Amino acid sequence: MRDIERVLFTQEQVETRIAELGEQITEDYRTKDLVLVGILNGAVMFFSELAKNIKLNAGFEFMAVSSYGYSSKSSGVVRTLKDLDRPIKGKDVIIIEDIVDTGLTLQYLMETLKVREPSTMRICSLLQKPDANLAGIKVDYLGFEVPDDYVIGYGLDYAQRYRNMPFVAVLKPEVYL
Ligand code: IMP
Ligand code: MG
Repeated sequence: MRDIERVLFTQEQVETRIAELGEQITEDYRTKDLVLVGILNGAVMFFSELAKNIKLNAGFEFMAVSSYGYSSKSSGVVRTLKDLDRPIKGKDVIIIEDIVDTGLTLQYLMETLKVREPSTMRICSLLQKPDANLAGIKVDYLGFEVPDDYVIGYGLDYAQRYRNMPFVAVLKPEVYL
């Protein structure tokens, strides 16, 4: 496709890695009361592929947040657009994200969900950028590290486009500059 600079991870590579994450989570949560909290819209493809690879009963919950524009990421203003439908008190929550950049979105999510007293809470992200620990965020289950470029595909968008591409790629800078 003409807006793609280069492919970082093919569909096969992404799905092989997600299967490994699913196996690891299956091992770690055998005796737990797992609830997967997917962050809309970016995490949808990852969430669905991951969930198929977790061989346990798991609750599904979804949350949507807005960060104020990708370019103004330094503001760190995040708000909830759609909240969970059910309480997570006493549950073993894994937050499922598409990508962690500054970590401010996840910091907001952790603060928002922690007060609801889940028994445990961890983070699973398909991708992570080099800046990711600026906000002190530790990703417990990570798919891949990516360079500090704008990436698209496998759920990730630029201006709501490219989400359905089944691989992860770098967007040509001239598309967004
Ligand atoms: P953070 O709050 O800076 O960690 O940004 C996280 C959010 O910004 C992610 O959930 C994505 O929605 C978006 N984001 C950050 N980097 C990219 C990217 O390279 N491509 C697409 N979305 C991105
Ligand atoms: Mg997102």
